Amino acid sequence: MIKRIQEILGERETGVTVTVQGWVRTRRDTGSFSFLEVNDGSCLANLQVIAEQDLDNYEGEVARLSAGCSVQVTGTLQESPAKGQAVELLADELVVVGWADPESYPLQKKRHSLEFLRSISHLRPRTNALGAVARVRSHLSFSVHRYFQEHGFAQIHTPIITTSDCEGAGEMFQVSGGNEKGKDDFFGKPAGLTVSGQLQAEVYAQALGQVYTFGPTFRAENSNTSRHLAEFWMIEPEMAFCDLQCNIELATDMLKWVLADVLDSCTEDLTLFDKFIEKGLIQKLQKVIADDFVQISYTDAVAELDKQSQQFEYPVQWGIDLQSEHERYLTEKIYNCPVIVTDYPSSIKPFYMRLSDDGRTVAAMDILVPGIGELVGGSQREERLDVLTKRMIEAGIDIKEYDWYLDLRRYGTVPHAGFGLGFERLVQFVTGMANIREVIPFPRTPGFAPC
Ligand code: 4AD
Ligand code: MG
Repeated sequence: MIKRIQEILGERETGVTVTVQGWVRTRRDTGSFSFLEVNDGSCLANLQVIAEQDLDNYEGEVARLSAGCSVQVTGTLQESPAKGQAVELLADELVVVGWADPESYPLQKKRHSLEFLRSISHLRPRTNALGAVARVRSHLSFSVHRYFQEHGFAQIHTPIITTSDCEGAGEMFQVSGGNEKGKDDFFGKPAGLTVSGQLQAEVYAQALGQVYTFGPTFRAENSNTSRHLAEFWMIEPEMAFCDLQCNIELATDMLKWVLADVLDSCTEDLTLFDKFIEKGLIQKLQKVIADDFVQISYTDAVAELDKQSQQFEYPVQWGIDLQSEHERYLTEKIYNCPVIVTDYPSSIKPFYMRLSDDGRTVAAMDILVPGIGELVGGSQREERLDVLTKRMIEAGIDIKEYDWYLDLRRYGTVPHAGFGLGFERLVQFVTGMANIREVIPFPRTPGFAPC
């Protein structure tokens, strides 16, 4: 029976015959046999294989194995005398499935820099760190779906190609023509890749009550930072009959739930990150789950930042959009915990956010976390037809194009709210990876899209 190494190490059963398939990490020869460390990607740990010289292909093949070769080994599990592992596999048969030339294989035993690994994105998941990121990312994705599904949310597949620019920031990648031959717009009007599924999620929230989308999102912004990608994944719940506070409660509850789940399920991988990527990572995550988040209005946050002796590159004053340096100062230096900033000036936020009674702020909220800055951006939406129409016209939006969106306010409008959580930023927060390019398999940034 072919078994995954994760299962073998979990069961610690000895005396049974199993077959494993994986890639050799190292080979060490001693006396009459070789030790092979084999990894199959199911977990961080390798399985130690003992290959004795009496194997038929020992001289011809086993003794030539090197990092990266793929093998299939059948043998008996036995108690391991070595420290740190319960069982090892005594090989009865070892088949070399694929060779890897040791002269040219880029992943040698030494530690490689994350920058170097980025240049070989087709091989980097075979390393401990990037393999662990991929497993944690997968589990986080599963966890997010589980949270929403178990809390009565329906998943909506919102379109990737769209004719509406949700954020109105002009950062859409254009989808031109239909194919190379066709010159006309395939859709009869200009279309682009979605910057957010929110507007379409609002449609379904006002029919199903509680929905979420979790899909790829594209931004043609020229940001070369450690927290921006041109293609990223976003989780966007949308709830009818929900105001800003209820939105904040959902975001907080979801975040804590998902973090607790990943802490529980990905212990081995998180321990690696805690040791080699961000010291104290596990404690940081436990603290975020246990402690209340700080909630503060934009106006108070600006006043708080203004009080500091810190010289910011962008001076702080009411009306500016908070820059990453301000966000990180709030969450890392002043409060040292996640901070929810609410009620931003309407002038710096998109048309769909609900205008407050003061006439100059909107019911917006961002959640800022240490090491990252903005993790979540959300708001209560403008449900009043007249106010929304006025704001759209002021923003220079052609309201004829958004008649469907206005219909939602004409027919059975309700207070509703939602948010967007950047999935890669969540994976960064959980793994401690300083650069967002490490937490998505194939990062796309300005000038970079290798495969
Ligand atoms: O704050 P944003 O732009 O909000 C929206 O798009 C809303 N329509 C969401 C909603 O209310 N349904 O983006 C939401 C989150 C940010 O907080 C950030 O975590 C992430 O998406 N994000 C990015 N992540 C990686 N690369 C980028 N270029 C990102 N831009 C935003
Ligand atoms: Mg935002």
